[in-house]
Amino acid sequence: MTQKPNPLSSIKVSGPIPAHLARSVIEETLRAAILDGRIPCGAALRQQDLADLFGVSRMPVREALRQLEAQSLLNVIAHKGAVVAPLVQGDAVETYALRILLESEALRLSIPLLTSEDFQQAARYIDELETQHDYTEIGRLNRLFHMSLYSKAPNRRLLKLVDDGLNEEERFLRFNLEAMGLGKLSQEDHRAMLRAVEDRDVERSVKMLEQHLNRAVEVITRYLDSPEAKKRQATK
Ligand code: NI
Repeated sequence: MTQKPNPLSSIKVSGPIPAHLARSVIEETLRAAILDGRIPCGAALRQQDLADLFGVSRMPVREALRQLEAQSLLNVIAHKGAVVAPLVQGDAVETYALRILLESEALRLSIPLLTSEDFQQAARYIDELETQHDYTEIGRLNRLFHMSLYSKAPNRRLLKLVDDGLNEEERFLRFNLEAMGLGKLSQEDHRAMLRAVEDRDVERSVKMLEQHLNRAVEVITRYLDSPEAKKRQATK
């Protein structure tokens, strides 16, 4: 059996980390490496390896891993420890059905409280999405656009769950957008949503959002069933 390359070899730690910053430095470093694929899906992260790498005790490592698990970037598996999560956790249809519930509710609560600055910011994200060709940026801007419409919802725990779902989608888009043949995403859905939100028409906004997410899950499901996607998953 050939030795797997060490997933941590791409991580450079510059000098000692002050104890009070250890958790956040470890968390940020690992998050960046998972998001850009340096640490691949399925890689197991051992607490002791990380403690050695960062030159810290296992306590901040454990805390950082817990944060990453809460962001759905890691799964903790018995006898295996923390493992980098797959790009789509479980069933895409179920994931999106849940997102529609959560994001519709956040949108309902947020619409009456949004200001004209929020509308302008959302419109700027759409303009940027229209001209952007970098997949990493497209994923990020899509998340920011959606969040800008939900952000005034007063329920912070709801927003946290919404944000987790958007982060999961961002990560998926980053790796698969090109292969899905969606180099240029139409901004028609986003524009229609924003118009409904600007009219403060809650029912129409929610309907637009549902259509938008249902279209996304259709594209993703078709893609995941394709031989191309299966080949990509197998090589990960
Ligand atoms: Ni979108």
